[in-house]
Amino acid sequence: MKGLILSGGKGTRLRPITFTSAKQLVPVANKPVLYYGIEAIRDAGIKDIGVVVGDTREEVKAALGDGSAFGVRVTYIEQEAPLGLAHAVLISEEFLGKDCFVMYLGDNLILGGVKELAKEFKRDKPNAQILLAKVPNPNQFGVAELEHGKVVRLVEKPEKPMSDLALVGVYMFDHNIFEAVKNIKPSARGELEITDAIQYLIDHGYKVHPHMVNGWWKDTGKLDDMLEANRMVLDSLEHRIDGHVDSISKVEFKVVIEKGAEVINSTVRGPAIIGPGARIVNSFIGPFTSIDKNVQVLGSEVEHSIILEGSVITEVDRRIEDSLIGRNVEVGKSPLKPTAYRFMLGDNSKVGLL
Ligand code: TTP
Repeated sequence: MKGLILSGGKGTRLRPITFTSAKQLVPVANKPVLYYGIEAIRDAGIKDIGVVVGDTREEVKAALGDGSAFGVRVTYIEQEAPLGLAHAVLISEEFLGKDCFVMYLGDNLILGGVKELAKEFKRDKPNAQILLAKVPNPNQFGVAELEHGKVVRLVEKPEKPMSDLALVGVYMFDHNIFEAVKNIKPSARGELEITDAIQYLIDHGYKVHPHMVNGWWKDTGKLDDMLEANRMVLDSLEHRIDGHVDSISKVEFKVVIEKGAEVINSTVRGPAIIGPGARIVNSFIGPFTSIDKNVQVLGSEVEHSIILEGSVITEVDRRIEDSLIGRNVEVGKSPLKPTAYRFMLGDNSKVGLL
């Protein structure tokens, strides 16, 4: 069995972060989302992993290398444009050959990994296995209709969903999927849809098994989902303090403070993680916050947020909440007169003022 991780795409829903960076490399609890996928596949005993890359190929390649740091072999597969999930399968035929494979969307997180799923697929030997989860907003997902426990219909983001069963971003296929992806046409949005390819399998008598996901999973393609994923992962961390916390600071509940981080005259209330080289001075870091490496939070309060590498938050009057702040961003009080807000924001930035 091989692995196929999709790490191309446009990432429009996570702009402006995705103007300069791959969404699969945005850290959740200070670890890129993509690493969780690689580790999940490796832990299912799969060593050969194809990674589909697009515009952000250089960054993804720099992050994964040849895979040896993760104990796997990574082969990069170049997708010239984000032409759909089924297109990503189509261009991976040479790498996948006749092997069965698990396809994993690089911006997805699944608690408990894919070990059990791979085992079930090997045991039952269907032609495809899809993962389904009940969601409150099925019109934003690929949706499956079941009859007597069998998958009969799949529709991508239906206006009037026929069930609340969404396709989770992990799929298993045997080589018959190539016949399907070669025989479907692009959808109205111009993509080769994986739902159409699986529908082809169903219509041509191939076995497509559903597998219900009971645990937690998340597609981190949007800000709220990214913050929720961060919450879930932080909650599962073990308390560990390797950095410096001065005697007047308080560290409460589950907190990770990495080596080289400093907490001075501050409170860190977990679950939270403070990355190496970060400085928290005269500040409050509230629950569900990830502070990445070399970030400085000075005289400010941050809660339920993700702050990426190298950013500096200085003397902000009100608490910063529900925020994703990119790399090397500066947020702070301006000493200049007149008293005014001064911004330099990238396209598609969002600022919430009081
Ligand atoms: P999506 O989140 O469906 O698409 P996207 O990345 O283009 O994002 P948005 O809708 O915000 O513009 O993609 C799911 C995963 O698959 C994600 O990790 C990107 C990857 N992908 C590819 O590698 N190739 C593709 O052609 C597409 C559509 C997605």
